[in-house]
Amino acid sequence: MIFEAIRESHDLQRDLCRKLTASRGDMASRQLLFLQLKVELMAHAAAEERHLYVPLLMADGGLDASRHALHEHHQVDELLEDLSVRNKEQDGWIATAKTLSFKVRHHLKEEESKFFQLAGRLLPDAKKAQLAARYRREIVRMRKHYAAEFESIAVSGETGLVKPAKAAADKPATRGSASAGAQLRGHAKPRRTR
Ligand SMILES: [Fe+2]
Ligand SMILES: [Fe+2]
Repeated sequence: MIFEAIRESHDLQRDLCRKLTASRGDMASRQLLFLQLKVELMAHAAAEERHLYVPLLMADGGLDASRHALHEHHQVDELLEDLSVRNKEQDGWIATAKTLSFKVRHHLKEEESKFFQLAGRLLPDAKKAQLAARYRREIVRMRKHYAAEFESIAVSGETGLVKPAKAAADKPATRGSASAGAQLRGHAKPRRTR
């Protein structure tokens, strides 16, 4: 079912928000947590917009909820942009991360406690099963799409989840400079770190 599939990413988002806002001192792990959360939020929003909110927008009774949810996705995007600075130790960064975490939690709760019930009533069962399969494919595809921008994270071939790329970077074939590693992995240019 589409809602169970979506909840799996929601649980991951809550876990990453909690770890990110608790991060202290170790800036490398804060950076890694931030990138994992950023990619998860962006991939989830894309897959959810395409395979839940677009069908919901087409139903008269789903217009307001869909518009509201898409607006909140946009607000989350803007906070992610504000947080995508090189120096994550500066004053205010963790306060903005907490604002993001608060916004994300509010959004997930609203989806789980209101919008899923609405979509459950408005969409036929066969449609919900079809959307679940499409959403599952799309979120993995979009995780790969967004993770490809960053050197330090990758998507597991087994689980389809975003993970630190350290294991891959430790292999002899990818050791060396960032550009050599990027070329070996088929990227023309070194990827961004923010
Ligand atoms: Fe959402
Ligand atoms: Fe969601």
